[in-house]
Amino acid sequence: MYIKRQRGWEISEREATPESVFLNRRVLLGSAAGLVAASAFEGRAVYAAGDLYPATRNGAYTLDRAVTPEKYSANYNNFYEFSLSKTVLPEANALKTKPWTIKVDGLVEKPFEIDVEELVRKVGLEERLYRHRCVEAWSMSVPWTGFPLAKLVALAKPLSGAKYLQMQTFMDKAVAPVQRQFIYPWPYTEGLTMAEAGNDLAFLATGIYGKPLPNQFGAPIRLAVPWKYGFKSIKSINKISFVEARPKTFWEGLQAAEYGFWANVNPAVSHPRWSQASERVLGTDQRVPTLIYNGYGDQVADLYKGLEKERLFV
Ligand code: MTE
Repeated sequence: MYIKRQRGWEISEREATPESVFLNRRVLLGSAAGLVAASAFEGRAVYAAGDLYPATRNGAYTLDRAVTPEKYSANYNNFYEFSLSKTVLPEANALKTKPWTIKVDGLVEKPFEIDVEELVRKVGLEERLYRHRCVEAWSMSVPWTGFPLAKLVALAKPLSGAKYLQMQTFMDKAVAPVQRQFIYPWPYTEGLTMAEAGNDLAFLATGIYGKPLPNQFGAPIRLAVPWKYGFKSIKSINKISFVEARPKTFWEGLQAAEYGFWANVNPAVSHPRWSQASERVLGTDQRVPTLIYNGYGDQVADLYKGLEKERLFV
């Protein structure tokens, strides 16, 4: 994206080594090095509502391609708070994700704060197979566990003046080193219209591959909006505000000409610096054509009727 990063296909130690062996090795190294490394695993050990996994799969969401093996998707992540490299897993494990509350405020009947564990027990969990298309022209397909964002909107009871949702990631410079760099407009924020948030595809994920989210995927709760470029799918959300004016997002704050508010996938509209016509499928050597709305046009194209003058695909 905007920032220069390492090449993507480097094989990390985690990819070459089974997870259990790798983690054991890290823990051993941690105890030798003292508490610093041990605390890096704090966020990993405890999960909210772990007994609810795996959840029943919702058969309405199918894929036209294979599920990406976890060994690839779990070792190739964007989570800039922790690192600008794709191998962000060790750094992301410093985040303590339980307990974790989400604040719901702004134009709602009554603002509240709710623990993620309480939230998922209240709304229930399901599994869905979704594609994910990053603006950098790579893609994956994964089984998310979570619940429709519309269920949280219903709990929030928004007032009639609410036109948008603004979502925000935690802010903690002590655990997220890149948040100490002032050139970024931290905290990471994203936004959707109320209509987008109410679309059944808009999903809040708390798990992946039949288990609670590992930290690098955005634990304990992140958005999945598969018809939009991946940067819209904000990770580790701790606040959702219902607002009247269109919120400015993290990437707009950094580079509005390249990363806009709508960011709907469209192979015909190039990024200013590269083509969006095709995508590299993570874990394979394949490039496949990119589909408009990432293949979800039937479910979402209607959301954009009357908005044709907007920059819908940047
Ligand atoms: N959310 C936060 N808080 N910080 C980030 O850096 N990166 C985004 C998105 N959500 C990001 C984020 C980008 S660019 C992408 S492609 C996806 O997360 C990556 O999700 P994944 O690592 O689960 O594949």
